[in-house]
Amino acid sequence: MSTNEDLINNLEWNNNIKNKEEKEVLARKIASKVKDGDVISFGSGTTSFLAVKEIAKRCKEENLNIIAIPTSNQIKQLCDYLQIKTANLGEYKIDWGFDGADEVDTNKWLIKGLGGALYKEKMNLKQSPVVYILVDSSKMVNHLGEKCFVPVECDLDKIEYVSKTLKEIGAKECTVRTVNRTSDYFITDNGKAIVDAKFEKITEDMEEKINEIDGVLENGLFIGYKNVEVISC
Ligand code: A5P
Repeated sequence: MSTNEDLINNLEWNNNIKNKEEKEVLARKIASKVKDGDVISFGSGTTSFLAVKEIAKRCKEENLNIIAIPTSNQIKQLCDYLQIKTANLGEYKIDWGFDGADEVDTNKWLIKGLGGALYKEKMNLKQSPVVYILVDSSKMVNHLGEKCFVPVECDLDKIEYVSKTLKEIGAKECTVRTVNRTSDYFITDNGKAIVDAKFEKITEDMEEKINEIDGVLENGLFIGYKNVEVISC
């Protein structure tokens, strides 16, 4: 990494954020919840990126001291740049968290992981009393899987097996995620690949069923988590 400015530009989001105005409203809403001394799980993705910037602004202006538990290397770097103290999961008890989502249905079931950070997003969510899911109007759906595929993070040498098994349990299509339309695999913070699986119907047992496949680390379904609170525009 060269300069701090480079880091922000390299996040590739600044000038290319879909529904940016709505996401900025959500960012301000979540920043207004921050209190001095809070330990907060910080989500990943563009909505979280804007939220982190807004939180940092409030902390600076009002001299608030908080601790962030980031869900990706990228958000950790952003926190370092914005001088927000960070810690790893398990070092502190989380007070609350926030994150974005790719799809949210009427049961508050989620699909996450379009940005590839689903593993820590789920680990942090499981340890948070409440996680506010910030969603712009494009994210609400009647049925999960309506628009999005389900990201499945898996070992590189298990891609074929995982794809084949996903099809056996109902996936219509599986695509290995690549970087910017090249043939290079997208590699997660955990050194794994992502298989994007399109399902027409997502049932309650699907999150667990996918994780049982040999070689799968985690998947982007968040089904039935009682601590999820949705904040929409
Ligand atoms: C990151 O891997 C994701 O789970 C994001 O939280 C999700 O993709 C939402 O992203 P945006 O806030 O960029 O829409």
